[in-house]
Amino acid sequence: MENDIRKIPVHVSIIMDGNGRWAKEKGLSRIYGHREGAESVRASCRLAMESGVKYLSLFAFSEENWGRPKEEVDALMGLMLDSLVNERRMFMDNRIRFRVIGSEQGISGEILDRIASLEAETRDFDAMTLIVFFNYSGKWDIMQAAEKFACRKSAMGSSGTSGDVSDKEIFESCLSTYGIPDPDLLIRTSGEKRLSNFMLWQCAYTEFYFADVFWPDFREKDWALALDSYSNRDRRYGKIK
Ligand code: FPP
Repeated sequence: MENDIRKIPVHVSIIMDGNGRWAKEKGLSRIYGHREGAESVRASCRLAMESGVKYLSLFAFSEENWGRPKEEVDALMGLMLDSLVNERRMFMDNRIRFRVIGSEQGISGEILDRIASLEAETRDFDAMTLIVFFNYSGKWDIMQAAEKFACRKSAMGSSGTSGDVSDKEIFESCLSTYGIPDPDLLIRTSGEKRLSNFMLWQCAYTEFYFADVFWPDFREKDWALALDSYSNRDRRYGKIK
């Protein structure tokens, strides 16, 4: 076994895809598929912690998902609200920091309030950070960062510089993910092989892993395969080793 030289990604990010197809295959409603997907979220949290992953991020609701039937959007909002209430104990007991990243536009006050209080309650925990990308898109993130960047640059006056800090560093500090390391490993389930407007900037040097199982079926064995695959990657960041 090569266990002693196994590389563990610091940040694992997941595009949880295939809830609808999982349900359809079983003759169940798409909403049932999302509910089962929430079980995989719970399992993944535990498996990530046990593996020593420090940041687990999940793409739970994209800006584009507003285009789904109202019944499904409502169900996804309901699942988010339920998770915020029901999983609180899990965050507290395991000392997991909770973060949500995305636009607040269109999200109910009740959900926003619960997010704010869970984020505040778990702020000092450091066993792992769970980040839920909710009402997020990579292009939205870059756009809002560009606006902040323009303001900061103009506040810097005519020189437009800030000592030793490069424009790239200033821009990165404007992204919604500031302070969170870029994903080392991005997993997408369901066999689809695309980024779907997820962390477009942040995934510049991320390793991708595509799993051929639907998200509700993504459990322990699949986590182990993904981590094994990552462990065998040779990351060069455009350089030569
Ligand atoms: C993609 O499957 C999944 C989603 C758009 C939603 C993911 C949400 C959850 C797993 C529920 C709970 C999570 C949290 C953190 C509250 P799809 O619907 O696109 O499936 P399909 O491609 O088969 O149609």
